[in-house]
Amino acid sequence: MSINKDNIFDDTRVNSSRRRLLAAGGVIAAASLASAIPVQAAKKNPPPMETQMFPKFYPLADFQPEVSVAGKFIVITGASRGIGRATGEALLAAGASVIGTSRDAGAVVGSPFPLLDLDITSPASIAAFVAALQAHGNYPGSIDALINNAGRFVFGTPTPIDPTLVDYFNSQVDLAMDTLYGGHVRVTNALLGSMSAGGSIMFTTSVAAYGVGGTEIGEALGQSFLSPYYSGKRALLAYANNLRGFMRTANTGIRVATVNPFAINTPLAEGTNPIALEPVDPVTGNSLINPTLNLVLDGTRALLANGLPASDVADTYVQLLQMNEPTPNVAVGSDQEPKATQGANELLLAGALEENQESAATLGCAPPGKSK
Ligand SMILES: NC(=O)c1ccc[n+]([C@@H]2O[C@H](COP(=O)([O-])OP(=O)(O)OC[C@H]3O[C@@H](n4cnc5c(N)ncnc54)[C@H](OP(=O)(O)O)[C@@H]3O)[C@@H](O)[C@H]2O)c1
Repeated sequence: MSINKDNIFDDTRVNSSRRRLLAAGGVIAAASLASAIPVQAAKKNPPPMETQMFPKFYPLADFQPEVSVAGKFIVITGASRGIGRATGEALLAAGASVIGTSRDAGAVVGSPFPLLDLDITSPASIAAFVAALQAHGNYPGSIDALINNAGRFVFGTPTPIDPTLVDYFNSQVDLAMDTLYGGHVRVTNALLGSMSAGGSIMFTTSVAAYGVGGTEIGEALGQSFLSPYYSGKRALLAYANNLRGFMRTANTGIRVATVNPFAINTPLAEGTNPIALEPVDPVTGNSLINPTLNLVLDGTRALLANGLPASDVADTYVQLLQMNEPTPNVAVGSDQEPKATQGANELLLAGALEENQESAATLGCAPPGKSK
């Protein structure tokens, strides 16, 4: 593929509003900007006073388990590092038996629980994984909980700018949608018949699943550079909730829930972990041709480096699995400082409020206890 590095990213295509916001503080280059941008943008276009957001923030500070996870057999996809590994560790500590997955289980050092090979974008890998799981010495005959957690960030402009990159771009978008959505549907279908009666199927979606972009705050965050990530997570959120409704209507006893973290300190945006829609350096993952993309990458890495600990997501999963009826969709974050800033909650909620103003179905919410 020949790439013209001079014209691949034409900065004149960045409109002046976005350029102004990107310039305002070095494009989210520092996590401290997290509090500055929304204030600036929200002042310009303030949401009506009655519109507020009240996410269900987890993990709960005051929590009484209703059921025990001790002895339960739990499968976690994408458990070689980050949220998946922390969740496995927390469940082990609570007495569960855990099997995790990695695309290259043999290369993972020091996992405290067994890891099996699984690439959720490959139907052949999924079939081999199911066979390996059922043949594993720890497999008790059924799965008490499946945590669909595997995922990758996505970086790149929402359109292929250079015509020579269209095939590359399309294949990367397909990979993103498979990794964030289609793969989870396939894994869930492959393991559905192996679930225990009363078992749980859960998904690491994201607070990104609740956004569609297009706002000034979103653009200040480089949201359009993550278009397939938002699309994949939103699709997964819809799938998970439709699965939940079906399971309930069909009286299967299978419970379904989604866990939606704000910014979490993991290697999700590091090196080549993200999916790149444009050619990148094979070591750093930085774009070879698009300086603005690299600013967005730097800002996102800074945001995640300052994010909440993965153990907060892990504790959320443990709490949901200790409920008789898990809360269907929860956010991992906090409205209390310092976690509110650390998890970028204020920033992302301000973006959601701005988005609400532009929605076809604008919501006006009264504070809790005052709903009409
Ligand atoms: N960090 C955040 O701020 C944040 C916020 C909201 C949601 N999330 C979501 O949380 C989940 C976990 O991410 P993380 O933050 O913990 O990042 P991470 O440390 O990069 O972990 C990602 C995991 O997914 C696995 N994975 C990647 N592609 C895969 C594939 N095709 N098939 C199977 N496994 C694959 C990786 O395993 P191998 O590389 O070993 O295969 C790794 O274990 C993701 O779904 C992510 O979108 C993260």
